[in-house]
Amino acid sequence: MLSTDFIKTAAAESGIEVSGMNRDQMDICDAASVRKAFHEIKPDWVLHAAALTDVDYCEENPEKAFRVNAEGTRNVAIQGESMGAVIVYISTCGLFGDEIKAYVETDPVELKTKYAQSKYAGEKTVIDKCSKYYIIRPGWLFGGLPHHQNNFVYQRYLEARNKSSINSVVNRYGSPTYTKHLSGKILQLLKSNYFGLYHITNSGHASSYEYVRKIIETWKLPTEVIPVDSNMFPRKAPVPDCEMLKNQRLQQKEFELLPHWHEAIEEYISEVRKKQA
Ligand SMILES: NC(=O)c1ccc[n+]([C@@H]2O[C@H](COP(=O)([O-])OP(=O)(O)OC[C@H]3O[C@@H](n4cnc5c(N)ncnc54)[C@H](OP(=O)(O)O)[C@@H]3O)[C@@H](O)[C@H]2O)c1
Repeated sequence: MLSTDFIKTAAAESGIEVSGMNRDQMDICDAASVRKAFHEIKPDWVLHAAALTDVDYCEENPEKAFRVNAEGTRNVAIQGESMGAVIVYISTCGLFGDEIKAYVETDPVELKTKYAQSKYAGEKTVIDKCSKYYIIRPGWLFGGLPHHQNNFVYQRYLEARNKSSINSVVNRYGSPTYTKHLSGKILQLLKSNYFGLYHITNSGHASSYEYVRKIIETWKLPTEVIPVDSNMFPRKAPVPDCEMLKNQRLQQKEFELLPHWHEAIEEYISEVRKKQA
């Protein structure tokens, strides 16, 4: 999902040639496959957004989570460093705990889930192996193509369009983030050479309930959104209550912050509507 929008955004800039790789073209768990792909492309920058992203699946299959998210990242980091490429590793907002606050880059992590542990191991390996890197922790992502499983905004539309009501959790919090906006900000960062760790989200924060309400309102669906406690949706993974991020490092470096998540949802839905018209 993120890569789809990043490729589109980067390809629209003059002077940047982009090569998107899927799993068949480069399996990050296979060092030889990574080496071959890097030698073919000889990249200056590598956006590494490949991951096992299903948090509950990772909880039940921790070896697979670590194989892709940690060891796969190690293969990318080592190969990138050996060829002088800048690595942009996409991490996660799910590294923190249950305290309701917007976490900054210097806050200590809690790593409640196997997914979080594997993604954080990926961060550590990038720091260890790469001399020029960005680590980006994004918020709750939406965007890409409508059929992408992780496209929360479109998935909620599909869920709600034939229902009179849907439930949504009031006591989980995050920072909804449009992949197109995130991609633009990553490109700005790449050109800045201010390497390091960044939290990047659309501005503002929301409970899942507020997020879903805004999605349903913007699609103009009559569906009622019913606020419920997270106990109503038992998860295999002990996901943290709070995944809100503050973009402190972007502020310190005087980057303009991304627009409010309300605007991001309105923009995304209007774009999908235009394509479907
Ligand atoms: N979605 C969110 O809300 C969210 C929030 C914070 C951070 N993130 C992070 O943002 C990044 C992008 O997320 P996304 O939602 O765009 O994910 P996505 O749509 O699930 O894309 C992940 C991609 O990684 C590929 N992949 C998995 N294993 C691979 C392997 N061994 N070799 C090569 N490719 C492999 C998948 O290929 P297949 O389709 O073949 O499996 C898929 O195309 C991830 O690093 C994720 O951890 C996501």
